[in-house]
Amino acid sequence: MVLVTGAGGGIGRDFALLFAAQGARVVVNDLGTSVAGEGASAGPAQKVVEEIKAQGGEALASTDSVADWESANRIVKVAIDAFGHIDCVVNNAGILRDRFFFNMSVEEWRSVIDVHLNGAFYVSRAAAPYFKSQNSGSYVHMTSTSGLIGNLGQANYSAAKLGIVGLSKSIALDMARYGVRSNCIAPFAWSRMIGSIPTETPEQKARVERMKVMETAKIAPLAVFLAGDDARDVSGQIFAVRANELFLMSQSRPLRSVHRDTGWTPQDIAAHGMPALRQSFVPLDRTQDVFTWDPL
Ligand SMILES: NC(=O)c1ccc[n+]([C@@H]2O[C@H](COP(=O)([O-])OP(=O)(O)OC[C@H]3O[C@@H](n4cnc5c(N)ncnc54)[C@H](O)[C@@H]3O)[C@@H](O)[C@H]2O)c1
Repeated sequence: MVLVTGAGGGIGRDFALLFAAQGARVVVNDLGTSVAGEGASAGPAQKVVEEIKAQGGEALASTDSVADWESANRIVKVAIDAFGHIDCVVNNAGILRDRFFFNMSVEEWRSVIDVHLNGAFYVSRAAAPYFKSQNSGSYVHMTSTSGLIGNLGQANYSAAKLGIVGLSKSIALDMARYGVRSNCIAPFAWSRMIGSIPTETPEQKARVERMKVMETAKIAPLAVFLAGDDARDVSGQIFAVRANELFLMSQSRPLRSVHRDTGWTPQDIAAHGMPALRQSFVPLDRTQDVFTWDPL
């Protein structure tokens, strides 16, 4: 039994469809909201449930928000009441409120942190007692290269998505003793979330055409793998998926060190420490500066 949040469209819908096609019973959670998180509708979750049933699968809709502790508990309760246990939680629900940092409002900050970071915590935490008592379970969280690498105008989203990486690693450490695993996926996919890129010039049009090969359905096989027994020794990792490419992403480790027997003064740091460390500085780059080739 698998619970997928934000499964009424985009990447999450394809998670739900593939899990169901592979024989899992699925709770399709989706608030049915806009990219900015405005409004709500039961339609998207219900529609995906109908698609799964039409394929011969078993699924149930949940339209509660992940962004609140009480309603996140209701999402997990729906799953337990209907199916008795829970094997995998996929934290996928998300919104965007892009704005340059110097103009970002508290509301824009808070709403994005609430859905992504707090939502992932709430749903994961609500499922934890079941995973613990079963001595099994798999968490799959959507992170983003906006957090792992960087992007303009997404301080709220980048912070939330990097926060999810810390959450996932902590869950992996704390719950390893119960056979519970936790991993992150940074997807690249042509969904409504990135579908608002302007296409005025021929170059922009060509770039967007190339991005369309990043189908949302390409992310699902990795999530299904991470949920299953073949991934029993995979935990605490960060993967990325872009069309037909899979990546294992790095995690922070010391790159270089300097040492001085007598300790450091600010002047020593300027004269000796920083010039040595500078050799390993990470450039102030964005996702597209690192993923410089077209999706394959
Ligand atoms: N598309 C990409 O290239 C990309 C890149 C990096 C990360 N991601 C992440 O992947 C996930 C899926 O994104 P997508 O591109 O499919 O976007 P999407 O907008 O198509 O899907 C997100 C879904 O989440 C639902 N949702 C929003 N707030 C919710 C809430 N509070 N409770 C329950 N459901 C809620 C929405 O109704 C929507 O159906 C997100 O976490 C996103 O940040 C996507």
